[in-house]
Amino acid sequence: MANGGIFRRKSVAQIQSEHEHGELKRTLGALNLTLLGIGCIIGTGIFVLTGRAAAEFAGPGIMISFIITGTLCAFVALCYAELASVLPVSGSAYSYSYASMGEIMAWIMGLLLILEYGLAGSTVAVGWSGYLVSLLKDIGITFPPALTAAPGVEVKDAAGNVVATGIMNLPAMVALLAVTGLLVRGVTESTTVNNIVVVIKVAVVIAFIGIGAFYVNPDLWSPLIPPQEPAPPAGTPMDIWSQIWRALAGIVSGETESRFGVSGVIHAAAVIFFAYLGFEAVSTAGAESRNPARDMPIGILASLAICTVLYILTSAVLVGIVPYHSLDNPAPIALAVNEIGLGWFAILVKIGALAGLSSVMLVLLYGQTRIFYTMSRDGLLPDILSRVHPKFQTPWVNTVVVGLLACAAAGFMSLDKLADLSNVGALTAFGVVCATVIYLRFTSPDLARPFRVPLYPVVPILGVLMCGLLLLTLMRTEHTRNFFLGYLAIGILVYFVYSMRSSKLGKGVLVSGHEAEPMELPHKDN
Ligand code: ALA
Repeated sequence: MANGGIFRRKSVAQIQSEHEHGELKRTLGALNLTLLGIGCIIGTGIFVLTGRAAAEFAGPGIMISFIITGTLCAFVALCYAELASVLPVSGSAYSYSYASMGEIMAWIMGLLLILEYGLAGSTVAVGWSGYLVSLLKDIGITFPPALTAAPGVEVKDAAGNVVATGIMNLPAMVALLAVTGLLVRGVTESTTVNNIVVVIKVAVVIAFIGIGAFYVNPDLWSPLIPPQEPAPPAGTPMDIWSQIWRALAGIVSGETESRFGVSGVIHAAAVIFFAYLGFEAVSTAGAESRNPARDMPIGILASLAICTVLYILTSAVLVGIVPYHSLDNPAPIALAVNEIGLGWFAILVKIGALAGLSSVMLVLLYGQTRIFYTMSRDGLLPDILSRVHPKFQTPWVNTVVVGLLACAAAGFMSLDKLADLSNVGALTAFGVVCATVIYLRFTSPDLARPFRVPLYPVVPILGVLMCGLLLLTLMRTEHTRNFFLGYLAIGILVYFVYSMRSSKLGKGVLVSGHEAEPMELPHKDN
């Protein structure tokens, strides 16, 4: 096979050159990168999924779930930071894979990122729809309930009564069409707009924590982890270590129920993992960063740390105000605010959430179009996906394709399914990123690494193991497992039938002015 076959790799010079040819200005410092990260992180996860995860899986133990997932994301973030400092110009995990493990892994990474970004965009749109419908209701407009949910999904009123069965989620579809229109016209994140939206979003969250704290009833935090349902057989040891051990063994063997108990807390951790997605988006801004080797690790880690603290506090206040079993609601934070009798604040929360979710949708779909664009320029996807509009200078066909796919998913798939599939894609991608750090330390020990993962190899190994555990947890659901494995199998087939042959690296074609050549990452000067 020409040029190294399916394991052929891009050289770092090549990746750097591809980015040098961009028109982007290097204007972002550590603060803007941190705000960029927060802008992409805080969204449907905390505003919507927390409620469902507490009601169905963890109860007040949702606080522990946020700690577990925050810890996992810290491990992954450290690994991203190391790779971002080795390849400071480029961003996505797709490029890291292309320069390290080779083309087939880059392709698989591309497939995973489509779930992480594309389907996540649909997930956020469904969250947005929930808050919009709730806000409209506050001002006396009732949207037909059957048009606010995917086919077959039961729509409930505030008291939990089923009022309709969904036909499609129209507001989510309209939101995505609007975002697609903006992206085609080239309206992406301006730093100033992003910073304003972040301030609004964080202000809403902090206000919720600050005001809500006065209304918390600590009795609602107890028991912290409600008993497992159905209860284990009489005589089963119930000390915490036995419970943890049983939960882990159950997840690996696929046997334990995951409603409450330790395995419920772990399942909730896998669900609210969605709330953390986006911290790695900072790494895609490498080409616009003033001092990427220093500022990108700061941006990634600081945005993650800030959101982790906010999430743990938000979830503590939420389950301290509303009994956890009532939290399975499309707008749980607003529900909690209503519960304490602050109707005006509930409206502000909804407006803040809508603004915040809009920017997350925009960033996620933008990210997805750029992943398709890069893959198309590399010859792994058809050329038409990198065709640029003569007037708007945007990859418009690509954007329309992404927009329509995301729209269809948001209109016809339930929030749970969408979130689980994005999580499965992202968990696998993050596991590969952690493994890439280990792989490169073995294969290229002399690389210049301005940032090194501390406590190596413990951190990346724990990252891989924790991603694997949460992945197994989600894969116990049959439709998630079948969809994910079927999707990967078809994707890999497409690689062998189409992409492998059309790859520009494979053909030795010039990519942005550089002849295809084997990987040569920058080495230490010594
Ligand atoms: N973390 C982002 C959200 O929760 C994707 O919406």
